[in-house]
Amino acid sequence: MIELINVSRTVTSGAGPLTILHPTSLRFERGQAVAITGASGSGKSTLLGLIAGLDSPTTGQIMIGAEDITTLDEETLARLRGSKIGIVFQFFHLIPSLTALENVMVPLEIAGARDARARAQALIDEVGLAGRGHHYPSQLSGGEQQRVAIARALANDPDVILADEPTGNLDSRTGEQVIDLLVDVNRKRGRTLVLVTHDLELAARADRTIRLRDGHVVSDLARQN
Ligand SMILES: Nc1ncnc2c1ncn2[C@@H]1O[C@H](COP(=O)(O)OP(=O)(O)O)[C@@H](O)[C@H]1O
Ligand SMILES: [Mg+2]
Repeated sequence: MIELINVSRTVTSGAGPLTILHPTSLRFERGQAVAITGASGSGKSTLLGLIAGLDSPTTGQIMIGAEDITTLDEETLARLRGSKIGIVFQFFHLIPSLTALENVMVPLEIAGARDARARAQALIDEVGLAGRGHHYPSQLSGGEQQRVAIARALANDPDVILADEPTGNLDSRTGEQVIDLLVDVNRKRGRTLVLVTHDLELAARADRTIRLRDGHVVSDLARQN
């Protein structure tokens, strides 16, 4: 369960303080797949960054399970991110000098897993890249690189998967496959998925769609059917 209670974020820009997320309260149930949509600049990445503990809110509390992450110091937060939260970005952010398998091993090794290689291999297989583990990112297509990034995000079996426009850099068919994979993982593993996308068709695969405009939640709808 994720809960935001009166969370806002105000930054100081050249022209003075700018509120990029107005006070927002939201609750995401465990296992729910939630899409965040809205125009560019509406605050989608800000919201995701707050849930990930990458940005700190100006007001409010953010609960991940029983823990209020706004009270944690940087080190505790980093540890929590490593164990409970998996993040997927638009531009994959793989390490170019490591193979696909090695990229997935990184968070496992940081967490001190003894069977890192075997577990990474199982994840590579799970995302449909069996036999490609020894390839470097530059030898993989965009869709394949994003699959590696998803496998890496899953490495420590996080409770929450956050994805910020994971299809933004992919053609529409490949994008659909990546969303299918994320939703599939969400269903099979029962993990909470928060997916930022401005593609409403892709958003419709989630259980719930939240739309932002100018830092406000303007709609919050459960999937029809
Ligand atoms: N650190 C910052 N300083 C100033 N403005 C910011 C900062 N981060 C984001 N913004 C602004 O806040 C608004 C929302 O940004 P963002 O959450 O990235 O939107 P989205 O992901 O929906 O495109 C944008 O206008 C952006 O320029
Ligand atoms: Mg964004």
